[in-house]
Amino acid sequence: MIRAASYLVVGGQFGDEGKGKIVDLVVQEGGVDVVVRYNGGANAGHTIVLDQGKYPLHLLPSGILHPEVMNLITAGVVVDPLHLVKEIQNLQGRGFSCENLRISDRAHLVMPWHKSIDAHLGGRIGTTARGIGPCYEDRASRRGLRMGDLVDEAGQVDKDHFARRVRETVEDKNAILTRVYGLGPLDPDQILQDYFAAAELLKGQVTDTADLLERYTREGKCVLFEGAQGALLDVDWGTYPYVTSSSVSLPGCLLGSGVFVVPELRMGVVKAYATRVGEGPFPTELGEYGAIKERDAFNPEVGPPKLTAAERSAALDGDDYCMGRWLRLVGAEFGTTTGRPRRCGWLDLVAVRQAVRMSGLNALVLTKLDILDGIPSLKLAVAYERDGKKTRTFPARAHHLDQYSPVYEELPGWETLNGAGSFEELPAEAQRYIRRIEEYVGIPVRVLSVGSHRSQSLFLPDRVVTVK
Ligand code: IMP
Repeated sequence: MIRAASYLVVGGQFGDEGKGKIVDLVVQEGGVDVVVRYNGGANAGHTIVLDQGKYPLHLLPSGILHPEVMNLITAGVVVDPLHLVKEIQNLQGRGFSCENLRISDRAHLVMPWHKSIDAHLGGRIGTTARGIGPCYEDRASRRGLRMGDLVDEAGQVDKDHFARRVRETVEDKNAILTRVYGLGPLDPDQILQDYFAAAELLKGQVTDTADLLERYTREGKCVLFEGAQGALLDVDWGTYPYVTSSSVSLPGCLLGSGVFVVPELRMGVVKAYATRVGEGPFPTELGEYGAIKERDAFNPEVGPPKLTAAERSAALDGDDYCMGRWLRLVGAEFGTTTGRPRRCGWLDLVAVRQAVRMSGLNALVLTKLDILDGIPSLKLAVAYERDGKKTRTFPARAHHLDQYSPVYEELPGWETLNGAGSFEELPAEAQRYIRRIEEYVGIPVRVLSVGSHRSQSLFLPDRVVTVK
């Protein structure tokens, strides 16, 4: 059980740490009244597993499945209204009204030109092609369109104003799309038709979410701020330029939500090993990305392959690719929508420490510990080494990161967690693995997730941890 006046839940690695499940769990157990999304957009992918099925969420905050909890999409989020409407309609078809949602009038709109440009240029970074980077670019250069351009203060669709803005913008964007990138032009009439239709469905939920949030905090409501992506994908402090385009940590939370609230319990969600999707440096990666893309892609209709006995024994004999494949297949590390294989590696504590520093984290949530079952020896990266020099901070020059080799500590693994119901019931080796992580980063693990269902979670008491 966990209790605080307010919470922050952020990713402590490269995204996909299992934040959705944790937000859902804390909402359930921690007395949360309001869930706030403050960064990113439909690039995020959270899956919530309930008894009645799986609910993949992208733009919607993870409290949306709880009708009594208010969910805010604040100004720091870039909103694709067409995507948002689809997500809402999908949930409505499954019995959730989504009336417990409010969208900031200051949130920037992802427009079709953002998606075209992202699909064309994003491959270098391996973006999700959801238009996120180009939309944040337009925000910074003051060319963006916001929710408030589409819906006015009275909650009505402002057709004249929005049509004017779209027509003048599309002229510029079409010139870039056709002349610079050699792509087809966009049809403004079609865009207006699509966006007006979406706006008709969303207009009653567009409001000044900062004002609302300030009122909620004054009333003493319990707020949970939900970060998308992970610390190492932060636009400033991640592995630039292989990052997303928003500030993912506590500063991004304050900026995006527009209200100064420092959440009391600041939780970093960290997988018991590491994964990354898309391009970019990954010091503790097991296997080579090129090989993984080719050999581990699969047709989502057929389903992922199974780990063979030969691959298992090769992994135990020290074959990095096979050990990475073990984590990928046992941990189901594939993009939910595309089937894109995630790159897998050992847990990188240097990276986690960076996440702790960025958000002033005071608790860790360790997910997918059960995936390490049966691996006899586990590695933890505790430093990087280059030209005989060791460092415990993440280097700025991501393009040189491949010249750093991780310095590993090796700890014995365990056979199985065997449905342990408390920390004390875990195998001694698992307890030691957890304690070593805590000592390295200097904060306690408060929640252990040992399966995708809500009930497969252990709560640990707060404790003071001395850094070693
Ligand atoms: P973008 O956010 O679509 O621009 O993608 C930039 C980078 O962030 C790419 O490497 C993506 O794979 C990664 N990324 C974006 N969102 C997520 C996420 O929610 N989980 C994991 N990786 C993400």
